[in-house]
Amino acid sequence: MARKKISIIGAGNVGATCAHWAATKALGDIVLLDIIEGLPQGKALDLYQAGPIQGLDARIIGTNDYGDTADSDVVIITSGLPRKPGMSRDELLAANTRIVKEVSAKVAAASPEAVLIVVSNPLDAMTYVAWKVSGFPTQRVVGQAGILDTGRFRAFLAEAIGCSVADIQAMLLGGHGDDMVPLPRYTTVGGVPVTQLLPKESLDAIVARTRQAGGEIVALLKTGSAYYAPAAASVQMAEAVLLDRKRLLPCSAYCNRQYNVGGYFVGVPCLLGAGGVEKVVELDLTAEERAAFNGSVQHVKELVAAVEKMLVSS
Ligand code: NAI
Ligand code: 2OP
Repeated sequence: MARKKISIIGAGNVGATCAHWAATKALGDIVLLDIIEGLPQGKALDLYQAGPIQGLDARIIGTNDYGDTADSDVVIITSGLPRKPGMSRDELLAANTRIVKEVSAKVAAASPEAVLIVVSNPLDAMTYVAWKVSGFPTQRVVGQAGILDTGRFRAFLAEAIGCSVADIQAMLLGGHGDDMVPLPRYTTVGGVPVTQLLPKESLDAIVARTRQAGGEIVALLKTGSAYYAPAAASVQMAEAVLLDRKRLLPCSAYCNRQYNVGGYFVGVPCLLGAGGVEKVVELDLTAEERAAFNGSVQHVKELVAAVEKMLVSS
């Protein structure tokens, strides 16, 4: 049986690290593409030469030519500017809309049957751009944010409780911004509600740190944003699709009637499998959770309104 094919657009920090995680998981052959000549070729060659040492057979190539990405099963879009200290993700909107628009058109032409996993920020709006420009069905376009955000939430909870990260299951809703909505009520440790294991003040502090966790890393790095955990999250989504694992994961998915969102990509629990987003799971929310979710969705809608104007005028 032929190996699966994963293309990664953008060979910067997140893209190259996605290639690394995908290679170590032996998910398939990997194509790394960037506009900078030599960058994807050099990184891919280096990673390919790790194969004999790590026992990995995957073919890994770097390129500037979309022809090499043809007929990919999954394409991960990471091209775009990362934020610098003091910047919000929203300040990347204009530059990254231009980049994601160009990239999505070329990806869709080369791999019309692929599932697109979008990573570029501001995430929910860039996922919308990729969907609009590719013309793909909504199920085959999905954004990565919630796995990263719950990964951060889970790491902080495990540290506070003194338990294994493996036992923490968490859920989160809304856009990938500081108004994201972690859900302690849907978070458990080995099946035990986390609300029974930590006092409310500790949980509130962890929720607040989770919301700011991307900015915490930007402030430390000073030259860019996080990439190990974002890439691990993106590759977990690719794995769910390529192996048809039907994982239930928080992802940015198209919601129309679901949660009464009205046709936008926002973070919700998704069943991810070979078809992409095979189902959006609707949770019962308290009035407080619902209000926080609606506020976060409103923010995404404002970004998408700005994106729509850019798509029309360019
Ligand atoms: P980076 O600057 O290290 O890499 C971006 C790469 O995109 C560069 O190599 C650049 O040459 C390439 N690129 C730019 N325009 C291109 C085009 N038209 N075609 C092909 N390649 C192009 O940035 P990094 O850290 O990899 O971040 C990438 C994006 O992912 C940023 O927008 C960042 O904000 C976002 N991000 C999103 C996360 C999420 O959870 N959704 C987490 C981390 C980063
Ligand atoms: C993060 O949350 C930059 O969105 C990215 O780290």
